[in-house]
Amino acid sequence: MQVSIVGSGYVGTTVAACLADMGHEVYNIDIDEGVVEQINDGQSPIHEPGLDALVSAYGGSTLQATTDYDAITETDLTMLALPTPNEADGGIDLSAMKAGIESVGNALREKDGYHLAVVKSTVIPGTTETELKPILESASGKTDGDEIGLAVNPEFLREGSAVDDFMEPDKIVVGTDGDTRALDLLARLYEPIVADWDIPVVETGRPEAEMIKYANNAFLASKVSLINDLGNICKEFGVDSYEVADAIGMDDRIGERFLRSGVGWGGSCFPKDVDAIRHAAREAGYEPQLLDAAVSVNDQQPERLLELLDDHVDVSGERVAVLGLSFKPGTDDIRNSRAIPVIERLLDRGATVVGYDPVAMDEMREQFPDIEYASSPDEALDGASGAVVVTDWDEFAALDEEFDAMAQPVIVDGRRIIRRREGVTYEGLTW
Ligand code: UDX
Repeated sequence: MQVSIVGSGYVGTTVAACLADMGHEVYNIDIDEGVVEQINDGQSPIHEPGLDALVSAYGGSTLQATTDYDAITETDLTMLALPTPNEADGGIDLSAMKAGIESVGNALREKDGYHLAVVKSTVIPGTTETELKPILESASGKTDGDEIGLAVNPEFLREGSAVDDFMEPDKIVVGTDGDTRALDLLARLYEPIVADWDIPVVETGRPEAEMIKYANNAFLASKVSLINDLGNICKEFGVDSYEVADAIGMDDRIGERFLRSGVGWGGSCFPKDVDAIRHAAREAGYEPQLLDAAVSVNDQQPERLLELLDDHVDVSGERVAVLGLSFKPGTDDIRNSRAIPVIERLLDRGATVVGYDPVAMDEMREQFPDIEYASSPDEALDGASGAVVVTDWDEFAALDEEFDAMAQPVIVDGRRIIRRREGVTYEGLTW
């Protein structure tokens, strides 16, 4: 098929490159000429395992990047993968999506024959129907269900495994208003992976498809906050929460994944999506108590980490090492990383902070230009009166004699990754 993907961000570039790899002809439309040039030169603007190879293989050939929305007239289907960030009050900012779907509509004015617009971005339930459909119809001068169609097809990509998650998803969710042409086109689009992996395709309404995305993320974030709540209780009782988690995970109604308690969740999606759906719930007149609690449990974990350090070290005027700055291993992304409140609170305590991360230090330097950054964990630990672990990078599991260089060998582990060592005071955040 000939398809257009609007947006060359983390989702758009991954989707465009994977669809090209599945044999489709893809136009990736973005307003950023630099990104367009990069992709056509076979360079991925986004660093994800496997993505560089796909963009290198198809960029400039079956994956054509362009700033020109008129490319849409060459295609049967257009996916919108544009940012839907939070506004200051936590609500969703639809400005990019509204501008994008208007441009799609304008391009469709000139197109003959049926064309399907697909909302890939995460939008609040009802948004496609009430906010996006009117813009598409008025800009194109065409009617949804007649010469154009409008579907919702959310993504569930994780940073660090986006290509794999796209190529082998646990489900494909397709929301339509019953337009069989829309269902047929999306079935053809995904046929290569559905056949290969026998992926379940969930056909549902457009609002249901929008809600499935929020529910998926809200549930996962709440699951982590619940195991953190239980982990905090275990800590008070001197119980090993990881042994408890391993056992309860054997109940297939609970499942073993996302039971790693510690300093909490960050990233670009959980915080954004949980805040947006809470805000929308309130606007609709419902108080989302459990989601509110999931956020407040998450918000308290950095302080709990440092209170454990306070039990052993007065960090005021002392050098403290922060090991791990990215929001999770495998990425340089620091958005909503738990390291940010940890560093802020250490500075509030009068500590001198030295940070280390295998890949995310340049990113964090923009946020905290005045703290020290070490080129290795042992440089960070050398002379430190206390250290905290905020990201579970594999290399931290090998640390051992490096702790001997600390002025006060106290380590508070926020991710269950550090090996105990004779002579080192060890505290686990939730175990
Ligand atoms: C998430 C969802 O998993 C993905 O489906 C959605 O499309 C985007 O948001 P991502 O944000 O990339 O993906 O990271 P994920 O691997 O889900 O981890 C999110 C946060 O939860 C990280 O900060 C991670 O450290 C934390 N986490 C995860 C825990 O603290 N404990 C766990 O057991 C699992």
